[in-house]
Amino acid sequence: MARGEPAASRYPRRVLDEIEAAHQEALKRLAAVTSLEALQSLEPELTGKRAPFAKLKQRLGGLEPDERRRAGQALHEATRAVAAAVAERRAELDALARRRRLEEERLDLTEVVGRPQVGHLHLVTQTRDRLEDVFVGLGFEVAEGPEVETDWYNFEALNMPPAHPARSMWDTLYVDLGTGENVVLRTHTSPVQIRVMQARKPPIYAVMPGRVFRRDTPDATHLPVFHQLEGLVVDRGIAMADLFGTIQQFTEAYFGPGFTARFRPSFFPFTEPSAEFDIRRPDGSWLELGGCGMVHPNVFRAVGVDPEEWSGFAFGFGIDRLAAVRHGLDDLRELFVNDVRFLEQF
Ligand code: FA5
Repeated sequence: MARGEPAASRYPRRVLDEIEAAHQEALKRLAAVTSLEALQSLEPELTGKRAPFAKLKQRLGGLEPDERRRAGQALHEATRAVAAAVAERRAELDALARRRRLEEERLDLTEVVGRPQVGHLHLVTQTRDRLEDVFVGLGFEVAEGPEVETDWYNFEALNMPPAHPARSMWDTLYVDLGTGENVVLRTHTSPVQIRVMQARKPPIYAVMPGRVFRRDTPDATHLPVFHQLEGLVVDRGIAMADLFGTIQQFTEAYFGPGFTARFRPSFFPFTEPSAEFDIRRPDGSWLELGGCGMVHPNVFRAVGVDPEEWSGFAFGFGIDRLAAVRHGLDDLRELFVNDVRFLEQF
């Protein structure tokens, strides 16, 4: 206390100092709190009935009216400031707790699967894309048809009436819709020839890739679900030489040098004459890749194309077998076991 100072003015100065000191002390204690639980128990000590501000308030009554007003004002402001600081600290601690919780619950996928892996298209898809590119380069367009077909598209329109013995060339999977045996999982892509000829008038230069199904037992060169690429050309004056020339050109474009092809006479009900197309593998063995021939007049008649005016050729290759020959696979089944160590090589 300074000497000579009147008692009435000394007292409120001390009260104002004490208010300020209590204010600062409250802020210090708030800053030191590091959890919501600790804040919860500290709060009554700063703003409750036994807090320093409450005690100071009781002492205001002993002051001169003027001093009381000044000290009361200061106390009111300090109390509000501390209440706001408590609310602010609560929000900070709340955000911190939420961040910690998220951090704990976070699932780091790179820890689960190791380094992120970039996939690529399956070899059969790559082969299909490449074949399409080669044929588009030769001036063909690409068409597609459904995998579930009626008997008419899969057999009848292709010159195989009901009970025709040629149907036994394909071990067919029938779909039971309760309407008799007339819906099948297509056994080849040849029905798409019919759909393309129904959809548009000749001249037609089209390839039709897709998945086909047969009741074949899987072995090194057979799968029950496999892929074919159908080809169809319909124009005026098309001859067998055009067919052989197209397949020869395709073989060179797709396989490159070192591969040779051969044609063997064969039979398909929808082509006349018909041939089988084989390719010589680098080890000297031959593998049948597809069938081909001149479109049978009955097929043209089934879709209303005049066989006197138009002629054409068709072919159908096994895409899986093409991939196997080109990449030296000795067993088609490997393609669908889905072992990443095998698939990632291509
Ligand atoms: C046919 O499917 C005829 N539609 C092809 C055709 C089209 C001939 C147009 C004439 C005109 P084929 O059943 O031979 O024919 O089968 C054609 C090719 O599909 C075979 O040469 C072979 O490469 C492939 N293939 C046949 N069966 C299987 C199988 N189970 N697994 C894998 N590839 C097969």
